[in-house]
Amino acid sequence: MEDITEIAILGMGNIGTEFVEILQHQLSEIEDITNQKIKISKILVTDLNKERNVQIKQNIITTNPDEIFNNKNISIVIEIMGGVDPAFEYVSKCLESSKSVITANKDLIATHGKILFQKAKKNNVSILFEAAVASGTPIISTLIRDLSYSNINSIRAIINGTSNFILSEMEEKNTEFMEALKLAQKLGYAEPDPTNDIEGFDARYKLSILSSLAFKTEVEYPKLHVEGISKIDSIDFQYAKELGYSIKLLAIAEKIKSGILARVHPAMIDVNNPLAKISGAMNAIEIQEKLLGTVIIQGPGAGPSPTSSGILSDLIHVLKTKHNSQSVPNLINNLQINDIKTLESRFYLRFIVHDKAGVLSKMSNILGEESISIASVIQKENTNLEEKYADLVFMTYKSSQSSIDKAIQKIAKLDVVDQLKSLIRVE
Ligand code: HSE
Repeated sequence: MEDITEIAILGMGNIGTEFVEILQHQLSEIEDITNQKIKISKILVTDLNKERNVQIKQNIITTNPDEIFNNKNISIVIEIMGGVDPAFEYVSKCLESSKSVITANKDLIATHGKILFQKAKKNNVSILFEAAVASGTPIISTLIRDLSYSNINSIRAIINGTSNFILSEMEEKNTEFMEALKLAQKLGYAEPDPTNDIEGFDARYKLSILSSLAFKTEVEYPKLHVEGISKIDSIDFQYAKELGYSIKLLAIAEKIKSGILARVHPAMIDVNNPLAKISGAMNAIEIQEKLLGTVIIQGPGAGPSPTSSGILSDLIHVLKTKHNSQSVPNLINNLQINDIKTLESRFYLRFIVHDKAGVLSKMSNILGEESISIASVIQKENTNLEEKYADLVFMTYKSSQSSIDKAIQKIAKLDVVDQLKSLIRVE
């Protein structure tokens, strides 16, 4: 065996604890696979005296990150502290002192990926981040290594387990959003403040990473359209079912003539589409590639064990490739990120309207004025409301987002229309 490879860990929460335990358990196997001896030399923590469920020598724990940056024997640093600040500063310092970095931090890669890749290349070290999207489900390595030759047309992904759990509950048990959210919180999927998950922001970070790798271009997450699931009602699932669809929070990125169109929003998908069958907190990513056709990778999207799996896979890769920069993504393209207004899609529109004569014709006239062709209409009396209201659902044929926006503005001005309750794009 060769010399000892010394590694350091930044952060020792739930994931750090589980990772160290797994590493200790599988150490000799990993050493055999990589033909290298491995030693954890330092672990950066915030509290030296905290009780931990894993055996670690007290002398390797530190609260001073300089003990890691300045230690020339440490060649690999695993960052599992989360957040952008101070993770960006720490990871930058590690790369600049010629240490390879493995990170599970999606916020960091989505926000500063391009600059970190440049730093890694400049110092001929690696930066790997399998666990940053869909935890250990092997999507990052698939895009960077296995599909590096590729000509990817599109990615469609369910990459927020919390939202998928909530939508599955609403669909399968006919529960309302708030009830399903409370259950997700009780089961530990959703945070006490669930905004990031339910409003699509977590999925948007992940989509910006996946689409940057798929299209080899920087995809800045603030440029991506995002809508969450909090406005969906259980009745939308009933109408979706009547029309042959399921509803999922999809993260979609596709190549179009003028560049890329990427977005996160609830979408109706055919009940027979494999993504419609992804239930509970699972993640799934569908890739359409020119030579390969359609590939779907499915697996867990969170949790200490799956995340540790992704980190271990990166660790073995870094050890086998001698820590060099060969697996650092090359964002060689400079593609335009298009606005959602350029989207062409079918739309599901559910309005609450006053149940009066002529409503349907007024609304369909406006849709006609904007060249929006109607595929189906469902009208149901709304018996839950005191006044005489009705649900009026339109499923359109393919229309442009900008025509839909104009039609909705005109429809909102009709005195017979109470409100647009749901707008869901159809994939
Ligand atoms: N909260 C995320 C999810 C996992 O529900 O998928 C971490 O990104």
